[in-house]
Amino acid sequence: MDRPDYVQQNVANWTRANAEYTDASAGAAWAAEEITWGVWQARESELNVLGDVSGLDIVELGCGTAYFSAWLARRGARVVGVDPTPAQLETARRLQRETGIEFPLIEAIGEDVPLPDDSFDIVHSEYGAAIWADPYKWIPEAARLARPGGRLVFLCNSPLSMLCMTMEGVGEQLVRPQLGMHTLEWEDTKEVEFHLGHGDWIDLLRANGFEVERLVELFAPPAAETHSYYKYVTADWASRWPAEDLWVARLRDG
Ligand SMILES: C[S@@+](CC[C@H](N)C(=O)[O-])C[C@H]1O[C@@H](n2cnc3c(N)ncnc32)[C@H](O)[C@@H]1O
Repeated sequence: MDRPDYVQQNVANWTRANAEYTDASAGAAWAAEEITWGVWQARESELNVLGDVSGLDIVELGCGTAYFSAWLARRGARVVGVDPTPAQLETARRLQRETGIEFPLIEAIGEDVPLPDDSFDIVHSEYGAAIWADPYKWIPEAARLARPGGRLVFLCNSPLSMLCMTMEGVGEQLVRPQLGMHTLEWEDTKEVEFHLGHGDWIDLLRANGFEVERLVELFAPPAAETHSYYKYVTADWASRWPAEDLWVARLRDG
């Protein structure tokens, strides 16, 4: 498959982000003891979305600097990280050398993954393919890669937050229609993201053989402060409305 046009722009932006902050911040993320989800670091030990991953085959689509893959590998999963941005993968390789936590890393987009059918117990994405790949292309890839009965777990911005998102951040007014929401191109960086409403997500997942098991809507906890880097959504907003969605779906078995 030829790479879609938006990939080049997004890879250029992720190359710049790597130089500006992700290379510098990845070491601390790799070292984190807990698996956490999202801006306010909801604990996996409380949400229990993944369960015991020991011995499972897991692919992360859009693994970035691969801190999430490293958390899974440390817990005994056989992980493969996939990402189209060479600089992000280079940071992941450096941290593999520094920590001794090694797993395969593949340069590819979530829409077209050079790995065999039916080979993973979990297809995972934490703000990788989940928002940077076209869902109408990467969800069929996820279904192809997952074993029957395998899970798809992904974290993305909530549709409500995207409906309220301006260049200044997430406000309290709807600024775009939900009808037809799919591709969002930002004026300044020209980055292209993909977001769907809940109904469209459910239809797309079911059309590709997945049954939705959970949709965990993540809020900021009481007394949380706005994140020092992810300032696009305030703690005040996210303590009242869900800013992030954590989806769990299972591929039908037979
Ligand atoms: C926020 S980072 C992911 C962070 C990751 N969960 C980690 O543990 O480091 C987003 C990543 O998505 C990747 N990406 C961009 N376009 C993509 C696509 N079409 N398919 C998959 N990943 C993509 C970027 O290269 C970037 O590294």
